[in-house]
Amino acid sequence: MTEPADFSRAVHRLNQEPNSLHLDLAVSHTIVIFGASGDLTRRKLIPALYSLYVKDRLPPETKIVGVARSNFKSDSWRERLTDSTSRFTGERFDRKKWEEFAPRIHYLSADIGRGDDFVKLGKFFEGLENGKSSERVYYLATSPSLYPVAVRQLGEAGLADESSGKRRVVIEKPFGNDFQSSRILNDSVHRVFQERQVYRIDHYLGKETVQNMLVLRFANTIFEPVWNRNYVDHVQITVAEEVTVGSRGEYYDRAGVLRDMFQNHLLQLMMITAMEAPVRFEADLVRDEKVKVLQAVRPMQGLDFASDTVRGQYESYLQEEGVSAESSTATFAALKLWIDNWRWQGVPFYLRSGKGMSCRTTQIVIQFCEPPHMLFDEGGTKSLDANRLVIQVQPAEGIQLQFQTKVPDAELRLRMTDLDFRYAREFSGSMPDAYQRLLLDVLHDDASLFARSDEVEMAWNIIDPIVAAWQSPAAPPLERYPLQMWGPENSTEWMRTQKREWFDVCPVLH
Ligand code: NDP
Ligand code: BG6
Repeated sequence: MTEPADFSRAVHRLNQEPNSLHLDLAVSHTIVIFGASGDLTRRKLIPALYSLYVKDRLPPETKIVGVARSNFKSDSWRERLTDSTSRFTGERFDRKKWEEFAPRIHYLSADIGRGDDFVKLGKFFEGLENGKSSERVYYLATSPSLYPVAVRQLGEAGLADESSGKRRVVIEKPFGNDFQSSRILNDSVHRVFQERQVYRIDHYLGKETVQNMLVLRFANTIFEPVWNRNYVDHVQITVAEEVTVGSRGEYYDRAGVLRDMFQNHLLQLMMITAMEAPVRFEADLVRDEKVKVLQAVRPMQGLDFASDTVRGQYESYLQEEGVSAESSTATFAALKLWIDNWRWQGVPFYLRSGKGMSCRTTQIVIQFCEPPHMLFDEGGTKSLDANRLVIQVQPAEGIQLQFQTKVPDAELRLRMTDLDFRYAREFSGSMPDAYQRLLLDVLHDDASLFARSDEVEMAWNIIDPIVAAWQSPAAPPLERYPLQMWGPENSTEWMRTQKREWFDVCPVLH
């Protein structure tokens, strides 16, 4: 069991001083990043750690050790990170602060495949920690094929041993590429670490608005009575990306949108939207409730794969570097999932995501039912847009409630209007990157926003049959779509045949 974490404390953690939290300040903290010379470290991890330092949220005795095969010394690695961190933090970069922070950063060249390198690492950590009790976080930001090897080597070198302080391992996505491989990976991780020590990252859970969904639902009373099959017609979860696969063609062509986005980010958003309130905000209780949502997802079978899924590929995909010329990998998908429980019976959850779409927007739309009896005759149709709650996760974070109002100074004419909540207007300061929040939670031993092993495996169990069906005659047609559209025309038509409509609005909040 992880330690209980009070919900409000967890929510406000990023705004508090480290001393007011339950960190053991007597021990030192070492964050070891495997994959130190890679893209994720440069673009996300070091900028996040630097930002936490600037906000005075890192424990005072925090050290960072980068590990990769490239031949850097600590100095040359720091130098390289100076450039990248200034680029990725932009105007928030403060050279003086960076110079204070940089001496905490160290580099050791090592090969994950070599056991003797881990013995060398162990000695290096001991020297750095100076015989003091120390909490250590091992962050695996390297190629996924190296995760089991890295974990095994840590175990064999005695680096998972907790006799001189807590040890945690952070594992980046992808966590396997199907159920079987994720189970094998879980087994190899569990041979060395207990589940309470394992933090599987899904960076969507670190996004401010995703966390705010929990607050919106469980710290207010007004939403709960309508958050169910009695009032909700359907839910739409869209993660639209304007970017194409870019330089990641080789990886992407093997993964496709279902593995890259649905198994993790989209299902996480669905779980947060559909879950019941946990009895307390503790990691395992939160995750128990999330897992129940996945347990309730109705398995697709037979004709469902053709009728309840849509797939597409953007037109220039086959010309991308690293992509096979005959590739049938989907860059767009839409799924209709049913959650068979009391709350959601009969309410479809539409999930869609794609690259090369109209704009970058991630939104959860709770589409409420039409009023049971329409009094107002609008243009003779007696049908109006029903209420909608739009939770915009990015780019601008906020919430919009849409409702009908009377147009003033006119006969009885109605128009959809809205109430907006925008983070940027309500709170000062820039929004933290998801990695800041997640790294801080790891240091605080709070796994509420990380995926548990059963959650990951269950998510693959939902996605695997669809991946398999899309490689069989049961697949829906793979429709090509031009860039900067909302995916294939099929997808719009698919909704229309269900008498519904996608909420195709490029960020509704700015
Ligand atoms: P990169 O390919 O850029 O980096 C891989 C890193 O692993 C390099 O530092 C490489 O360094 C190191 N490495 C490779 N082989 C070994 C070895 N045998 N021993 C020690 N180090 C090794 O990958 P990314 O940074 O893009 O991604 C890392 C992980 O994070 C991946 O699992 C990815 O899926 C995940 N991820 C990445 C995101 C991103 O935005 N980049 C987003 C979400 C997840 P060297 O060659 O010097 O040894
Ligand atoms: C990653 C996927 O997990 O998430 C990428 O591998 C995708 O393909 C990215 O672009 C989207 O993340 P964000 O935070 O930019 O929405």
